[in-house]
Amino acid sequence: MPEFQTSPGMRDVLPPDSGRWRAFVDRFAGTVGPAGYGLVAPPLLEDLGVFQRVGEATDVVSKEMYDFVDKGGRHVALRPEQTAGVCRAFVQHRPATPWKVWYHGPNFRYEKPQRGRYRQFDQVGVEALGSDDPYLDVEVIALAWDFFAALGLRRVRLVLNSLGEPDDRAAYVRALAGWFGDRREELTKESQETLVRNPLRVLDSKRDADQALVAAAPRIHDFWSPSAAAHFADVRRGLDHLAVPYVVDDRLVRGLDYYRRTTFEFQGLTLDSAQNALGGGGRYDGLVEDLGGPATPGVGFALGVDRTLIACDDEGVFGAPDPSPRVFVVDTTGGFQALSIANELRRAGVPTERSYDQRSMKSQMKAADRSGASIAVIVGSDEVASGTVILRSLRRASQESVPREKLIEHLERIEP
Ligand code: HAM
Repeated sequence: MPEFQTSPGMRDVLPPDSGRWRAFVDRFAGTVGPAGYGLVAPPLLEDLGVFQRVGEATDVVSKEMYDFVDKGGRHVALRPEQTAGVCRAFVQHRPATPWKVWYHGPNFRYEKPQRGRYRQFDQVGVEALGSDDPYLDVEVIALAWDFFAALGLRRVRLVLNSLGEPDDRAAYVRALAGWFGDRREELTKESQETLVRNPLRVLDSKRDADQALVAAAPRIHDFWSPSAAAHFADVRRGLDHLAVPYVVDDRLVRGLDYYRRTTFEFQGLTLDSAQNALGGGGRYDGLVEDLGGPATPGVGFALGVDRTLIACDDEGVFGAPDPSPRVFVVDTTGGFQALSIANELRRAGVPTERSYDQRSMKSQMKAADRSGASIAVIVGSDEVASGTVILRSLRRASQESVPREKLIEHLERIEP
């Protein structure tokens, strides 16, 4: 075993999987770009305080943060998610609103690694700041939905909830704390601990022994103020109109604390339930203010690249793009011809591969077959002398000699 390997929860992404990752991000850009979302790229590292605004009572902040004091004495952290950094950037640069941005890239959480859960993981996402229009919530949710469709995914469920206005949410948390507090002994030990830190998260317990109590607990919709109820009704109306299917689940609480009003999650129906969240999001109307900016509403989502690709594997859609070259250049005269022809073809945008190290004709032809190329361009000393090349169709095993300077023209004719 080599001395150095990736740390637990970290992975190398290699070809051809890396090609799939890139295609995934391109497809996402192609979905959100036409809706006016511009790419934003905040740094991986921020002041710890930026991320503490995500909620000090959450596991993400209290247990999973990669934080350290840098050589300048600043307490910094690797980002566990990107919403807080995007809001920090908004406060710093004060762009005109609505500010609609998308992002992609790695995040870090010190979690227990397992399939679909890593310590470094990639997300794609969008954030829209500066409007509390419920139809903006709908726009954002529909973008994620359309992106799943663009990948070819069918077995995804959208789960929707509202956590109410900040005061509604606070009253609900108090009610839950009291209600679960009265029944503490009936909760599992883990949930008793959660209750102390974050009563809302008890609702998220996946443990069987908690389920009866969770099902009987007070419901958030009884705490909605009229404005929260109206906002939620508008979100539903918009989704219905766009024919985006959803289920309402008033037990849906998210793992981050900044959410107000709309919250949602996309569940992959082919994945194990513990790890089935492909992504999620919601409104975080107080976050910009918490970070020192003007009162600015915001809504967005992030999707986990790994889990969404696992769902794609399960459904047999969005495979890795074919990395095969179109042309393979076989040169038996020492490699200079291969250098020159490959360069010319690549400049013309034709994916082209070649062998190195002056291998035999036979070995180069084998490499051409293995490469998946459809055409071999073959050059030997006769061809150099006569200013020609041989074009061989590797699919049909037919070949012809063509003038060197008309190579590209003939390629198009043989196999467009
Ligand atoms: P989140 O629910 O913490 O939300 O993460 C979103 C998605 O990232 C998850 O559904 C999951 O697919 C993926 N993910 C999270 N942790 C891991 C992990 N350890 N390994 C692999 N994948 C993971 C957020 O991050 C919010 N910033 C979403 C948001 C944007 N809310 C508003 N705007």
